Amino acid sequence: MGKAKRIGILTSGGDSPGLNAAIRGVGKAALGFYAMELIGFRDGFRGLAEDHRMRLEKNALAGILTVGGTILGTSRDKPHRMEIDGRMRDMTKAIIKNYQSHKLDALVCLGGGGTQKNALRLAQEGLHVLTLPKTIDNDVAMTDATFGFDTALGIATEAIDRLHSTAHSHHRIVVAEVMGHRAGWLALGAGIAGGADVILIPEIPYDISIIAQAIRRRSRHGTNFSIVAVAEGAMSKEDARALQVAEQSKAKARNKFQQQAAKLHLKSVVDKHRGNTLRLARQLEELTQLESRVTILGYVQRGGTPSAADRLLATRLGTACADLIQEGISGVMVASRGEGTEPVPLEKVAGKLKTVPLEHPWVESARRVGTCLGD
Ligand code: F6P
Repeated sequence: MGKAKRIGILTSGGDSPGLNAAIRGVGKAALGFYAMELIGFRDGFRGLAEDHRMRLEKNALAGILTVGGTILGTSRDKPHRMEIDGRMRDMTKAIIKNYQSHKLDALVCLGGGGTQKNALRLAQEGLHVLTLPKTIDNDVAMTDATFGFDTALGIATEAIDRLHSTAHSHHRIVVAEVMGHRAGWLALGAGIAGGADVILIPEIPYDISIIAQAIRRRSRHGTNFSIVAVAEGAMSKEDARALQVAEQSKAKARNKFQQQAAKLHLKSVVDKHRGNTLRLARQLEELTQLESRVTILGYVQRGGTPSAADRLLATRLGTACADLIQEGISGVMVASRGEGTEPVPLEKVAGKLKTVPLEHPWVESARRVGTCLGD
């Protein structure tokens, strides 16, 4: 890669507080410090495929540090499977064409796990791609942290704090659903910080009778309310086993027929899990005879102004990204490592998920303060 002059930038996947701070970090360093040009593509990879863009000059970067969401818009579109006029199409060639016609020297993709995979595919097609790790789930591999997580952690913790007083006043179980389908960082972090009595995460399949026992024990000791922080993807031991079996048979499927059948079966197992939080609350009500209520925190966790820590992280990663482009480095994710940053080859990141290790200090601390983790 020669001396970089023109950079494309896009945001992909679910939005996350800190995206604008990162766009600003890349942009200010690229424009102001290195005298590069910056083109923003709208709505993720779709904007690059359909050449839907905005020129990012100095003015466009002013006043966005504290703003939630992304000024570029985002989508979950994949380059190789994009719905165009009602049909799924591979838009990789169109993306390469637009990259070339804009004479881009590098493309910066801000996103989570899915984005890392899509970025790697484009890097393998010869584009000079760099990524930044964002997601409120904190589940991107090979980085200490992702921006968005700290803000969402604060929001979910505050919600749990507020749920305490109402649960206490009504002597109820309040089940608070926190985002995170496959990783429980947010539920675990907010659950510990908010003092939840039960924390359920996808990494630790739960036994409903153990949770009920823990809640009944509290009642016996005179505490007639409990807060249950549950990750979206938390599941009972039986459901986790069913999912594992379905995933294994999909992996083992030999021919198209078997693959189709395994895929349908896996979908039915996943579909069955929908509404699990409501089911959980009902089961707990039956088993404990305590009234239960559910609060699904949902998209509130992704909205609004980023925390100071997220602004700082996004700015650090963004400016480091501009430095790497100037040095001619691509095919990497800019990871956060201690107080610094580190370029990690996309091959080491794509397709990997950073889940909560069972022996993680947060898990240990939660157990030490008497939190029930459902196992
Ligand atoms: O971006 C991560 C995330 O917020 C997950 O925590 C959540 O499960 C998912 O996105 C929701 O996706 P969508 O925005 O497509 O509904």
